Amino acid sequence: MSDTTTYDFVIAANRLPVDRAEAPDGSTVWRRSPGGLVTAMDSVMRGHEGAAWVGWAGEPDDAPEPFEDSGMHLHPVPLSAQDVSDYYEGFANDTLWPIYHDVIVPATFHRRWWDAYRRVNQRFAEAIAKISAQGARIWVHDYQLQLVPALLRELRPDLRIGWFNHIPFPPVELFAQLPWRSQLIDGLIGADYLGFQRTADAANFLRAARQLRGLSTKGDVVADSRGRRVRASALPISIDFADLDALARTPEVVARSNEIREQVGSPEVLMLGVDRLDYTKGIRHRLKAYQELLADGHYTPPQVTLVQVAVPSRERVDSYRRLKDQIEGEVGRINGEYSTVGAAAVHYLHQSFDRAEMAAMYLAADIMLVTPLRDGMNLVAKEYVTCRFDLGGALVLSEFTGAANELTAAFIHNPHDIQGLKDTIRQAVEAPTSEKRRRMRSLRRRVRDHDVQRWAERFLQALASAPDRPTPPGA
Ligand code: G6P
Repeated sequence: MSDTTTYDFVIAANRLPVDRAEAPDGSTVWRRSPGGLVTAMDSVMRGHEGAAWVGWAGEPDDAPEPFEDSGMHLHPVPLSAQDVSDYYEGFANDTLWPIYHDVIVPATFHRRWWDAYRRVNQRFAEAIAKISAQGARIWVHDYQLQLVPALLRELRPDLRIGWFNHIPFPPVELFAQLPWRSQLIDGLIGADYLGFQRTADAANFLRAARQLRGLSTKGDVVADSRGRRVRASALPISIDFADLDALARTPEVVARSNEIREQVGSPEVLMLGVDRLDYTKGIRHRLKAYQELLADGHYTPPQVTLVQVAVPSRERVDSYRRLKDQIEGEVGRINGEYSTVGAAAVHYLHQSFDRAEMAAMYLAADIMLVTPLRDGMNLVAKEYVTCRFDLGGALVLSEFTGAANELTAAFIHNPHDIQGLKDTIRQAVEAPTSEKRRRMRSLRRRVRDHDVQRWAERFLQALASAPDRPTPPGA
């Protein structure tokens, strides 16, 4: 690959789909990054020969040369330790993330963080501009890169630029708190097409553009100050149904799921939670409901147990550190009170697992607890039903996830309502097998018919048919 190689299709996301890690012998290995974005785009990229992915390699001051991995050209963007602290941990995850998730924890505003956000977005735009072929399609992802569309258009008006938000877009009342709200809207408006998880997210953006920037909108199209039109609409993300369904059906995964059930004491009811350790996920609400169900005497280990996988995340951000302490304290209290020797009330795993192990856990779980206070989509819910080719299990799903808009056959609840959550869990446990199978069949059909490949196709179609054509070369 020479320095002048350019690509017709370029993905840009804060993270590359792989993180650099060290093998026991000291050599470099690349491991898949956590989170829904990578999970989704991984399978999309496999279908696009000769595409490039621009992103951060996951460690400060790490600037590996561009390299190839699983058939993709990967172009690292370096972040210094200061950038990681100010742009990634600061502005992205301590300013934007709380504002975009209903201010579950307070957002922090620092002008220095904003400067770093702008600087890093500029760096991304320059990296993309350098490797993009004339007229290339660019797919920018998520809240970390909201300035890239306009910055990139400035450098390369010939490109066709799409952006997709994996997280919610907040109501204007919350978005308006951001001192840099105008710049963020102007950044996004540089795109040809803006994709959101829910219609409500697209509507929130359009309303912010109208009210805070005075831009005119017509239906789902907004015009920038020069009259260039940009569409903003909903395109809920999904997963690779066929691939995960096939994995779940393998004899190895089925055997492993039986083994997991035995290892946790062959309970009548195995409940499962799988989340990045994030305050948006409602893990504390879930533990509270579970603890009360034990305290009320509805369930007793070993007949019931909860396996909670909490994937380590953003551990240098204070609110995440605090959450980890709270959750680990709560797990300790529940186990101290309700476990017996050999029968734990909660199996807490602060780790990440490979796809096969996750599929086995899903297949082993009678009740899947997905209880976010706010979540753009929640792909765990979709992964769970995809693994249940046996039509077993039951999905308890928060109404505050994007997934709840689609997975209406789940046991839907409001996680703030602890009594309601307890009742919903009991309803899911006690529902007749025929009802659970009917629900699961419907849930699986939805994910099968709206998989990640279809999502990507629809995104690229929306990008291709965006209302205004890019400026022709030399114009
Ligand atoms: C969510 C976000 C992604 C992010 C992922 C993991 O899925 O939408 O953009 O990559 O969480 O978070 P992290 O901060 O570790 O990249």
